[in-house]
Amino acid sequence: MEWRLLRGLPDEAARQVLASARRRRFAAREVLFHEGDPAGGMHLLAKGRVCMRVTTPAGDVATLELFVPGDVFGEMALLSPGAVRSATAVALEATETLVIDEPTFTELRRRHPSVTEILVQLLGARVRRLNDRLLEALYVPADTRVMRRLFEVADLYGDVVPLTQDDLAGLAGTTRATVNRVLRREEKGGAVVLGRRRMQVVDRAALARRAR
Ligand code: CMP
Repeated sequence: MEWRLLRGLPDEAARQVLASARRRRFAAREVLFHEGDPAGGMHLLAKGRVCMRVTTPAGDVATLELFVPGDVFGEMALLSPGAVRSATAVALEATETLVIDEPTFTELRRRHPSVTEILVQLLGARVRRLNDRLLEALYVPADTRVMRRLFEVADLYGDVVPLTQDDLAGLAGTTRATVNRVLRREEKGGAVVLGRRRMQVVDRAALARRAR
């Protein structure tokens, strides 16, 4: 497994970091950490998939992002002293992470500035994505947002997406009722087949057209 964050490191240094990390295993739907928890460490995702959720002021759950093997998360609480977790991490399937504790992370960045450089690039890319999402939330209709998120997760997962309609609603920033209406329409049109806790994309080209 290659983690982008460690890409600039000499092999020996990367080996040392990985050897000092703590391997943790989580079952499907288990919480890795909660929003508001004190920072524990940064997670390198080795196996499985994790989603990051926040609770909105109205008590709804919004999904900020999905992470796949090779991704890194839980770095934000380590970057500002005293910060707490900004979101809740939930395993979507059996998951394994390598956890790098705060002193190791700080020492790693001190010794290898490439880690900080890559982190800055990752955070910059995240701001760009958030800008896109903000414009989308303000100007793009909810039905299109649902199709866009479904298209993106089908890219991540392959054609069988193990998410609930609530998960998709959280990703698209809309209600489950809207997701259900859009998916039923697409099911009738033959682009998707709906199942329990999963959706199957059978016509990606149709999905891509609707996601525009
Ligand atoms: P941390 O705040 O330690 O714990 C929650 C993690 O979720 C955070 O670090 C980031 O790794 C990740 N995260 C928070 N907000 C976003 C976002 N908008 N997009 C992608 N990842 C995020």
